[in-house]
Amino acid sequence: MKVIRVPVKEAETVRLSIIEDGKLDPERKIKVIDAEERFLEIPVTDDIKGFETYQQENALFYNKWRSLKEILGGNITETELSMLPSGWQILGNIIIVTIDPSVDHLKERIAKSLIKMYPSCNTVVRDLGISGQFRLPEREILIGDNTETINKENGCLFKLDVTKVMFSKGNLYEKKLMSTVGSDEIIVDMFAGIGYFSIPIAVHAKPRKILAIEINPESFFYLRENVSLNHAESIVEARNGDCANFTPENIADRVIMGYVGTTHHYLEYGIRAIKKEGGMLHYHETTPESLIFSRPIERIEHAASKAGRNVEILDCRKIKKYSPGIWHVVVDARIS
Ligand SMILES: C[S@@+](CC[C@H](N)C(=O)[O-])C[C@H]1O[C@@H](n2cnc3c(N)ncnc32)[C@H](O)[C@@H]1O
Repeated sequence: MKVIRVPVKEAETVRLSIIEDGKLDPERKIKVIDAEERFLEIPVTDDIKGFETYQQENALFYNKWRSLKEILGGNITETELSMLPSGWQILGNIIIVTIDPSVDHLKERIAKSLIKMYPSCNTVVRDLGISGQFRLPEREILIGDNTETINKENGCLFKLDVTKVMFSKGNLYEKKLMSTVGSDEIIVDMFAGIGYFSIPIAVHAKPRKILAIEINPESFFYLRENVSLNHAESIVEARNGDCANFTPENIADRVIMGYVGTTHHYLEYGIRAIKKEGGMLHYHETTPESLIFSRPIERIEHAASKAGRNVEILDCRKIKKYSPGIWHVVVDARIS
């Protein structure tokens, strides 16, 4: 799916000349790709002279079917209509949807309708939650049999099997932010998953080294796949195991602790990994609203004092609501 990128000011003139050449893709929408720089992506069917062609990530299609309600509306009750899912996640060519148990009997029809809405997808799975330290997803296949896909995000490729590992799209801002830091550094990614942080940092910031540690063998398999898919072998060294055992000491310019729930149990390992000369810690946790950001800061200070290190808090961010009254937050701290 080809696109060209054009500054907003020139977009209308370029669009008209592409139409004249018969090369505008009528099935995809024009997308804003950088609101600050004001660039648009124009979908094209062929290369356009004078412009570089890119492969489009997360294309937006015009579709005669705009919503589940529109497709199913005439055939189900008002109560059922109100319980239909209003959102879903699309990873590569797979749709992941949460379906309320009260409309369980409609699950196949919901899945078929979603495929109508997104003709480039071929599999629909129902999400039944993510659990445990390994973040294992529980998923029911509703349509299709191909549960492995490649999702494109921020110029990186993420291969995964949606029935075996999770992929969080909710922290896109944080992942983008992290991909801008770390050039020339040594980084330890203690909870690497399939490479959510390690891959974009390797691709965009090109640090000297990233040590990516992941305990779940299924995630570790895809972490290694993604390192090679993104040609990051010379940067990312992946290790399969518990970061409590595999995090080295006094080596890192930057440590990422992108895990929630019991992250604070590993804080001392993260802090000890940072070079004595000083470095940056990105500490994630799930915090009750009333303790934002005092609890994560206290935990960092407590662990640092146990390790005999100093802390300077540089930034605190809310990433997303995790559950009622609980937020996923991140604190950036300089440790010396
Ligand atoms: C939530 S996922 C990765 C999240 C990712 N950073 C993101 O932003 O979406 C956290 C990962 O940490 C891994 N993990 C949990 N405990 C671990 C440990 N003690 N050592 C290494 N990896 C661990 C889990 O298996 C999981 O793949």
